[in-house]
Amino acid sequence: SLPRVYVTRQIPPEGLKTLRESGQVQCQLWDSDDVPVPRQELLQRVKGVDALLCVLTEKIDAELLDAAGPNLKVLSTMSVGFDHLSLEELKKRGIRVGYTPDVLTDSVAELTVALLLTTSRRLVEATHEAKTGGWGTWRTLWLCGYELANSTVGIFGLGRIGVAIAERLAPFKVKKFIYTDVAPRPELASLINAEYVSFDEMAKRSDFLAVCCALTPETKEICNKDLFSKMKNTSIFINTSRGGVVNQDDLYEALSTGQIAGAGLDVTVPEPLPTNHPLFTLKNCVILPHIASASFTTRNAMSVLAANNLLLGLRGEPMIKELKL
Ligand code: GLV
Ligand code: GLV
Repeated sequence: SLPRVYVTRQIPPEGLKTLRESGQVQCQLWDSDDVPVPRQELLQRVKGVDALLCVLTEKIDAELLDAAGPNLKVLSTMSVGFDHLSLEELKKRGIRVGYTPDVLTDSVAELTVALLLTTSRRLVEATHEAKTGGWGTWRTLWLCGYELANSTVGIFGLGRIGVAIAERLAPFKVKKFIYTDVAPRPELASLINAEYVSFDEMAKRSDFLAVCCALTPETKEICNKDLFSKMKNTSIFINTSRGGVVNQDDLYEALSTGQIAGAGLDVTVPEPLPTNHPLFTLKNCVILPHIASASFTTRNAMSVLAANNLLLGLRGEPMIKELKL
């Protein structure tokens, strides 16, 4: 009989079609996009499967892999991030892992620029004022923000997405791109003329700081009061990577005391961020519900790539995008 696959979410139609029309697998699916599969249900459903296609809301850890059992050979996540996966446990069991970089780079870069401008030019505040009677008259300094022209943009974690963001910001007449990472990335940096600097220097020089790194034990809460205290009080902090890289208490402090001018976050801890969270009370903090890759084109492409990674993995062939464990 055909290999069994469990899909932990109702993924976009093109990805499901790729799996179903392959004739290569037997598919079971958590048939909702609005609620994640409950953990207990997931632990039941994965029993004996040969492959698993998941999204970032599912924690793939020892408990889950044990529940699945020894048939499981392939894990395919419909995400570029992999902090929801215990890579060590996967490696130990010889499970191959696919993910979806590249196809989402344009969408994430676009959203990051949109969030940056929304934050720096105070667009959420501005529309709110316009429709709630705050628009008394045209005023000389009312709702003033910060412009990209002649600015220095810092990129924390220079990968494909960081480069794509810089390429889109350059036409706004950014003066200088600087970046920091665990090591210099000269090939990527040369694409955008970016200078490698220390973490401290990035903090001190950036007018805009975009976080584009992966969440790892090394980057966990690396954006904390030490960073914010070195940043300019006119600077804008943007995070479209993972909420876990930020210490949110420290960010709240920095925003509410004017240590930095604003923050735009597409990712938080937890997700969803509770509606009574203090960050929601701040006018200079723009919070989006983790939508950086959310374009129809990209989400469909991610689902197809995740499906193809899974099918290739089951055939014992190289995946299109495979994580090196
Ligand atoms: C989104 O956050 C992703 O990892 O794809
Ligand atoms: C702005 O609308 C201006 O005319 O300066």
